Amino acid sequence: MTDPAAPAADTRPYSPGLEGVVAGETSLSHIDGAAGRLLYRGYPIGELVRAGSYAAVAELLWSGEWRPDATLPCLPVPGTVMAALRALPTTARPMDALRTAVSAWGAVTDPSFPPTPDQARALTAFSPSALAAFARIRRGLEPVAPDPDLDLVAGYLYQINGERPDAATARALDAYFIVGAEHGFNASTFTARVITSTRSDIASAVAGAIGAMKGPLHGGAPSEVVEQIHEVGTPERAEVWVREALASGTRLMGFGHRVYRAYDPRAAALREVAESMEHRPEWLELAIAVEDVALRVLGEKYPDRPLKTNVEFYAAPVLMGVGLTPDLFPATFALARHAGWTAHAIEQGAANRLIRPDVRYVGAAERSLPGA
Ligand code: ACO
Repeated sequence: MTDPAAPAADTRPYSPGLEGVVAGETSLSHIDGAAGRLLYRGYPIGELVRAGSYAAVAELLWSGEWRPDATLPCLPVPGTVMAALRALPTTARPMDALRTAVSAWGAVTDPSFPPTPDQARALTAFSPSALAAFARIRRGLEPVAPDPDLDLVAGYLYQINGERPDAATARALDAYFIVGAEHGFNASTFTARVITSTRSDIASAVAGAIGAMKGPLHGGAPSEVVEQIHEVGTPERAEVWVREALASGTRLMGFGHRVYRAYDPRAAALREVAESMEHRPEWLELAIAVEDVALRVLGEKYPDRPLKTNVEFYAAPVLMGVGLTPDLFPATFALARHAGWTAHAIEQGAANRLIRPDVRYVGAAERSLPGA
């Protein structure tokens, strides 16, 4: 006999992790994992990297218009936010400092709903200054005010180092920012859309997104790529190292992807940038040698499952090459993703419907408290 207190069997479709579930519509980016293609508003990522800048790509995402001459200089950090950054322990993770700064920026500027392109520009141009300020404060250095003549990425490096980067260095990091700008309904972007859907503000959406991106399943692996490449040491050791790593069950960082079954188009664009860097580090030659071996050995081990290079593999040499320390990699990725997060917040706000899925109840049937 069925228990009358038991809830009726829930036969609605359920997909753990929402895998395969279409949870919204967007006109911002399209990912074709089988063909290895990524489009922002219809334009292939490789073309955007070759012909665009981060400012132009961010404008494209926010407004839908291609304005190749767009600029986006970094904005100063309001005094209250700077005080919050100075109050943090110098050991705080850069991601935590960035999330704190965005939250404080929201308290200071009180952006209203719905999110607008102007709000998106202001927040995206503020965050690099805040992260750079914290990068200096934790080293016991005074923050450097933004230079209004520098575009966002050059301005970020300037505020970290106190020196203007050369054009090639700024260009390389700009390319990284372009490929990191947007990538569909990943966990952090979905978080930003859920928060916006409650008619909350753009700062809350981005602070929540940073929290989601902080987790190791999302924040990417470029610093782990750096560790593995260091372990390999020399190109001659690549073959032995890769075979031993795979035999012991180690995952090769920078290979494989949940969506891409072909070579990640972002990795291809960044490899081109890394190879054209003026001061091509020895380290890059080693990375290329490791990639060649890894693709060959992964192909032998998994003949039916294409495991190709992902974006993180070439993000590592670019981020190293521009002089960032690995502990700044995740937060720098978060800076790049501001364009996408804020564009999604605008898109969500413009055609809003509260995101509120159902959940399947698997707990106890109705019962009385003991002794009641
Ligand atoms: N090295 C070695 N083996 C691998 C790798 C890898 N990088 N990636 C997948 N495999 C193997 C798995 O061990 C598994 O083998 P098995 O069937 O013998 O157990 C098989 O391929 C399938 O693995 P899954 O985890 O099911 O593949 P999925 O597509 O879900 O994983 C993921 C994608 C998590 C990115 C995985 O490829 C991985 O761990 N890569 C290394 C970490 C990495 O580079 N992360 C950055 C991803 S890009 C980004 O986040 C922006």
